[in-house]
Amino acid sequence: MSLAIVPGSFDPMTLGHLELIREARKRYDRVTVAVMINSEKQYLFDLETRLKIAEASVADLDGVTVISDSGLLIDLYDRLGADAVVKSYRNETDLIYERRMADWNRAHNERFVTVLIPAAGEHPTLSSTEVREALRAGKPLDGMVHPAALPLILKGNGGEA
Ligand code: PNS
Repeated sequence: MSLAIVPGSFDPMTLGHLELIREARKRYDRVTVAVMINSEKQYLFDLETRLKIAEASVADLDGVTVISDSGLLIDLYDRLGADAVVKSYRNETDLIYERRMADWNRAHNERFVTVLIPAAGEHPTLSSTEVREALRAGKPLDGMVHPAALPLILKGNGGEA
């Protein structure tokens, strides 16, 4: 059984992330979504809330599980016996950033394989930043996040929206 990890901040998980998770699932028997910490980011939602939002978002997908982890991705990779990490990129900036992470992870774990998929589907440019901005502006999040995650996103935002 092949296993891919789809790691990320997921602050919060968007419909674009879900398209990537579906793409990963087409290529691997199982997908573990890992909600993690990017030390370069400050989060709107804490790790536990990001985990719950991700769980609600993928609940209808077969072969997909969600975990949170506050350690290194290279360690999680070995612990789960993963075959690949799957990430997507929307533009050149993303690609440079993802390449840098892929190189760092490979340099520290020789088993580590990163598969980069260009963002496609119906939401090729959607970002968590856009979702947070819409939330702050009190705009509806329809077409940006999974409906099942909406109550958690509104609640986890401290009632701002
Ligand atoms: O959604 P993001 O912010 O692009 O995801 C980045 C993430 C969380 C996958 C990355 O920061 C990560 O792997 N964090 C775990 C800690 C780690 O392994 N850091 C070194 C990787 S360069």
